[in-house]
Amino acid sequence: MASSSYCFKEPPAPAMARIPDAFIDDLLARSDIVELIGARVPLKKQGREYSARCPFHDERSPSFTVSPTKQFYHCFGCGAHGTAISFLMNYDRLEFLDAVEELAKRAGMEVPRDTQQRNANPDGQDLYAALDASAKFFQKQLAGSAKAQAYLDGRGVDATTRERFAIGYAPDGFNALRDALGSDERRLKLLERGGMMSRNDTGRVYDKFRDRVMFPIHDRRGRTIAFGGRVLEKDDGPKYLNSPETELFHKGRELYGLWQVRQAHNKIPRLIVVEGYMDVVALFQHGVDTAVATLGTATTPDHAELLFRNAPDVYFCFDGDRAGRGAAWKAVESVLPRMKDGRQAFFLFLPEGEDPDSLVRQEGQEGFHARLQQATPLSQFFFDSLSADVNLSTLEGKGRLAERAKPYLLQIPDGAFGDLMKQRLTELTGVGARTSSPQTHVRAQRARSAGAAPAAGKRSIVRSVIALLLQHPPLGVELQPPYRFATLRQPGVPLLVELLQLVDQRPDINTGALLAHFEGRDEQAALQKVALLNLPGDEVQWLREFMDGINQLESQTVQQRIDDLNARIRDAGSMSALSASEKAELRELQSPVRKDP
Ligand code: UTP
Ligand code: MN
Repeated sequence: MASSSYCFKEPPAPAMARIPDAFIDDLLARSDIVELIGARVPLKKQGREYSARCPFHDERSPSFTVSPTKQFYHCFGCGAHGTAISFLMNYDRLEFLDAVEELAKRAGMEVPRDTQQRNANPDGQDLYAALDASAKFFQKQLAGSAKAQAYLDGRGVDATTRERFAIGYAPDGFNALRDALGSDERRLKLLERGGMMSRNDTGRVYDKFRDRVMFPIHDRRGRTIAFGGRVLEKDDGPKYLNSPETELFHKGRELYGLWQVRQAHNKIPRLIVVEGYMDVVALFQHGVDTAVATLGTATTPDHAELLFRNAPDVYFCFDGDRAGRGAAWKAVESVLPRMKDGRQAFFLFLPEGEDPDSLVRQEGQEGFHARLQQATPLSQFFFDSLSADVNLSTLEGKGRLAERAKPYLLQIPDGAFGDLMKQRLTELTGVGARTSSPQTHVRAQRARSAGAAPAAGKRSIVRSVIALLLQHPPLGVELQPPYRFATLRQPGVPLLVELLQLVDQRPDINTGALLAHFEGRDEQAALQKVALLNLPGDEVQWLREFMDGINQLESQTVQQRIDDLNARIRDAGSMSALSASEKAELRELQSPVRKDP
């Protein structure tokens, strides 16, 4: 368990400390992705790129490529892609921060801890120590409280399990922890920062957790970062009280029990997601030692990523009632964008009035595992949910299902799972997420969601400018903000502006690093595709095409302004709709020898 004997080599960073984007860009600029991947996967040079058999899925012929110029990898087979950082995360199974550390070490750079964070947290180490000491204090109190022990006895929690989860007891009264650990101003401040204290209107500071069984929440390194406290008796305030969000604790990113699961397994075969502390604890005690709980929140995308980073198969347990199904759908939404190949999600709905705690006590490990085997696969739950109120024997019903399903299917990363889901939609409705012309429709949809879309003809200009810029970021240095075409109402323009701003701020940025800025955003899939396009030509040609494109966008912007002003005159039926300066502007814009803006 987390123990106060932990020593920290570096100022501990909270679960996902923010590292300045500029540092990440620099780091990627100084790292050599070919060398990094080449040390782990045999690469073969092919033209300007390197190829290999993909390390992320089984294949005979190599469809995995690494681009030294763009500094990213991409697998045409399974869609895996990313930068040196994501490669380390996926291949070496590192957390983001650790991957950054690793790369920085190789590049001889020092990771800047968020300066704000550091100022606000000069003694982060002490903060961890304060929480750890609190956990120890609660454990000792449990040993001395017949009442609290009787409660845990009553719930059948054995001694080993109490120890493993470091379960404790916060005594009644307002000052137990405060008196024990908050003896001076500085220490009291630490307890407050750790979320252990409450403060009343008069400014008095007192114990937040009183007369509760305490469940410490551990981070990925086993350090105590927060607590959940359960009342002993009903009607004694909220059943569970959780630590507030603190600099160490963000409940949407933590999973109760994950530390214990990781201690018990080298390689976690599957994770089971349950709702409650007691569910995790009871399951573990009965031999189901891979359960984790979200902390009184819906499953977030951060949770989904964390889950799959740790295990290929994830089982979500929910109540069988309406609320449970609602919560399950939330989980679907968080999980779909993470469904890379090889990952599987299942849903287990529990009989009314039962939870995993009560079930595993009645049915034991075997009984619970038998239920898991019957769990509903994500695909089935997905289509069942969306078609629950739809009559699939009518055209209208099929159409409705297709419309509902499409936006979700488009979020699934490229790969077999996504293809199979689209195929299933076609089976159910006759309408594919891809229709008659197989590729284009999906592409158009993707592009649309990426904001890089149609208005036929015009689209291609924005798109090709984006493609050129993404592949050759230094082109962007030719332009200075403000960008005159920024007001052009065309899909993709905001994205182009954003890319230009990134290049303007970081002139050395490369393709991989640019893409990394869109990690987790809708635009990412489309940008990734665009980054892969093979653009013929050389630097001179690229520059000319780029500037041509920009010039065209600028003329379109002028035309748009003219149209806007004319529309207002037309609507009002009179020139008086425009102010004097607008009239002058319109004359100027429409004069045949317009001074190009
Ligand atoms: P449940 O009400 O289902 O309780 O809350 P439980 O886990 O079965 O608890 P026991 O068995 O009665 O002890 C599920 C989870 O929701 C959060 C907690 O994380 C809890 O474990 N919760 C519940 C709160 O945060 N606050 C509450 O007041 C209740
Ligand atoms: Mn329960």
